[in-house]
Amino acid sequence: MAELQEVQITEEKPLLPGQMPEAAKTHSVETPYGSVTFTVYGTPKPKRPAILTYHDVGLNYKTCFQSLFQFGDMQEIIQNFVRVHVDAPGMEEGAPVFPSGYQYPSLDQLADMIPCILQYLNFSTIIGVGVGAGAYVLSRYALTHPDTVEGLVLINIDPNAKGWMDWAAHKLTGLTSSAPEMILGHLFSQEELSGNSELVQKYRNIVVHAPNLENIELYWNSYNNRRDLNLERRGDITLRCPVLLVVGDQAPHEDAVVECNSKLDPTQTSFLKMADSGGQPQLTQPGKLTEAFKYFLQGMGYMASSCMTRLSRSRTTSLTSAASIDGNRSRSRTLSQSSESGTLPSGPPGHTMEVSC
Ligand code: BEZ
Repeated sequence: MAELQEVQITEEKPLLPGQMPEAAKTHSVETPYGSVTFTVYGTPKPKRPAILTYHDVGLNYKTCFQSLFQFGDMQEIIQNFVRVHVDAPGMEEGAPVFPSGYQYPSLDQLADMIPCILQYLNFSTIIGVGVGAGAYVLSRYALTHPDTVEGLVLINIDPNAKGWMDWAAHKLTGLTSSAPEMILGHLFSQEELSGNSELVQKYRNIVVHAPNLENIELYWNSYNNRRDLNLERRGDITLRCPVLLVVGDQAPHEDAVVECNSKLDPTQTSFLKMADSGGQPQLTQPGKLTEAFKYFLQGMGYMASSCMTRLSRSRTTSLTSAASIDGNRSRSRTLSQSSESGTLPSGPPGHTMEVSC
């Protein structure tokens, strides 16, 4: 049985003034499905996987992940990893619009481009962080290349193909809504869209006025035509690495993520349902997500207490016995987050813990 725990975690802390993000280098490689662009931050660390991100429809790596990766507390994590941020084809800044008739890759083909990126960089393993369509792409990649994926953070994943009912609803919505409106309805909840916060206004502006809107629509079509991942809890098709599933409790994809959780191996999966975070927790709750990511990495043995701030250390004493620096990794799969009192509700290794924060 999943365990539900009320937790309160750190206050949000943006990058301090004067704290400069690391230099980035953007590359493009040719693949059997066309060229793909990615941006590398940091330098490779011996015996450590790269963190590889894949963004959702309507976004690019910056609009999807900058708030999270430039968040103050995130720095102590990411300084230990090289990061590879993939832009889906045609989503990179300044991308020209594809000629009419261009066959955009399917999500499965986008996943098949990842080996070309890793080969080019000479990286052997990754920890994937994906949102929405990007979470699907990374999951597909993990199913076909399990030996190269050490862990996955999947935000708003929907592993199912659209059924007839979904298609009918999609077609009906298409009669009255523009593509940008449908994409915004995929990114944010109806409450968020009608609330029209500054964040929603900003992202509405990004999508509606995107110079590459035609390309975005092609990625959107590929997402809507995705195949079922056919995950089975006890079947042959399942994710074999530690997985952190994340969804906002009012997100449009909440049911899909809950269902995905039911199809994954509970000994490998942690489920983080975030209160008050809406459709894009990596934008609205980077502090909570950073802390969850830290515990996830700790469970994989990558974040020792000595790497962590005094505050975090005081909250994680019972976890650190299972964690060690670099290659000497324990294989316990525990995600814990601090309670208000500072005691640690660490679940037993090998149990899925549902964390509400
Ligand atoms: C990073 O440090 O990985 C990063 C910085 C800016 C935007 C996205 C990621």
